[in-house]
Amino acid sequence: MGKKILLKNDHIPGIQSYDVYRQHGGYASVEKALKTMTPEVIVEEVKKSGLRGRGGAGFPTGLKWSFLAKPEGVARYLVCNADESEPGTFKDRYLMERIPHLLIEGMIASSFALGAKTSYIYIRGEYFYVARILEQAIEEAYAKGWLGKNILGSGFDFDLHVHVGAGAYICGEETALLESLEGKRGNPRIKPPFPAIAGLYACPTIVNNVETIAAVVPIINDGGDAYAQIGIGKSTGTKLISASGHINKPGVYEIEMGITVEDFIYSDEYCGGIKGGRKLKAVVAGGSSVPILPAELILKTAAGEPRLMSYESLADGGFATGTMLGSGGFIVMDESTSIVKNLWNFSRFYHHESCGQCSPCREGTGWMEKILHRILEGHGKMSDVDLLWDIQGKIEGKTICPLGDAAAWPVASAIRHFRKEFEDYVQKPSSIKDVKHYYRLHEAGTAS
Ligand SMILES: Cc1cc2nc3c(=O)[nH]c(=O)nc-3n(C[C@H](O)[C@H](O)[C@H](O)COP(=O)(O)O)c2cc1C
Repeated sequence: MGKKILLKNDHIPGIQSYDVYRQHGGYASVEKALKTMTPEVIVEEVKKSGLRGRGGAGFPTGLKWSFLAKPEGVARYLVCNADESEPGTFKDRYLMERIPHLLIEGMIASSFALGAKTSYIYIRGEYFYVARILEQAIEEAYAKGWLGKNILGSGFDFDLHVHVGAGAYICGEETALLESLEGKRGNPRIKPPFPAIAGLYACPTIVNNVETIAAVVPIINDGGDAYAQIGIGKSTGTKLISASGHINKPGVYEIEMGITVEDFIYSDEYCGGIKGGRKLKAVVAGGSSVPILPAELILKTAAGEPRLMSYESLADGGFATGTMLGSGGFIVMDESTSIVKNLWNFSRFYHHESCGQCSPCREGTGWMEKILHRILEGHGKMSDVDLLWDIQGKIEGKTICPLGDAAAWPVASAIRHFRKEFEDYVQKPSSIKDVKHYYRLHEAGTAS
């Protein structure tokens, strides 16, 4: 059995409730932090742990925390990013639904370390039922004295609020999230200034993912060094992976960083192999935004080394032959999958979710969707594949926020690795019926 830290108790009946959570060691990190540690010592432990942000970019958490400005008399905030709208990613939902107190515990300990007296959990609109679970857990934590005034007699006052978004992917981008939290339209801000200097209400703010904040709990309990011992190289600790697609056992798995991709896909402990014994065709390893890789490159690097579930190994080869760990949304596709159809689906998503501020993203995502649709409908030209390549290149790196990159990378990687499939659609337009059928299902609201 692989190492489990965050989900070690997720199977315990009633773990959602305060009493059961507390019986299994819950809130020990808050006790330890408030009674025996200073905020500076906690930040040092997080640095030592090597923890990297689990929201997608993998930025070192301790380093980010050390950037937080501390002007005299100005409030500071910790904002938890629970927007989780990246297609293929559902691990934060699982964690919040299953062990809500773990996130609350992490929020208290982390806010103490950062000197935040008020913090927010910004949760995606579609997770309204999870917001209710969190609110109930927060009520229990107030009732038991873990939130509110003078927690454990330490002099630390702390309030925690849940804010439900309105269901927009862009509000997962941290500055769009802050705009939305302030009650405005969720448009990303131009950076600098970064949130650590001027974030929520123009005050110093740290935005961290749900899983990142939850990981602070074991780091405080067992120490940064113990956490750093787990995993491989600069990919320390464990990672929650949302596994979906053509696998026998879809679900959320906690893996120790560094297991092989092959083991993750084929072993019974995790995905349990490809459904129906079919062949693996491709994998999107880190949520819809990261480059897709064909079977041969996801299982082995270009140099023939086994590919590992780690930031470094998945990125090995750059975008030519590698990809990214991203948010850990692991989508497995078997040999029956049409890469072009799948890409069209992703492109529709990015076009719909673009906030429209930057013209390359606003216009480019629309064009990519339209061209892909034309190819699938049987009206494509050979030059359309080059046109798609050209458009994605005119979006990547040319927008205020990385939504543009997120829309461009799937297109670039699909063409890079599966160009022939695009050309086949142009030369043998046999899919017209399929697309029309899909549209009918879509209009009837039954398309998946
Ligand atoms: C379009 C877009 C959507 C994003 N969605 C999320 C999200 O749902 N959850 C998340 O934690 N980070 C998301 N991010 C990344 C955040 O901007 C930010 O990097 C992250 O919350 C930082 O937390 P971490 O350091 O703990 O990873 C998104 C970024 C972009 C560009």
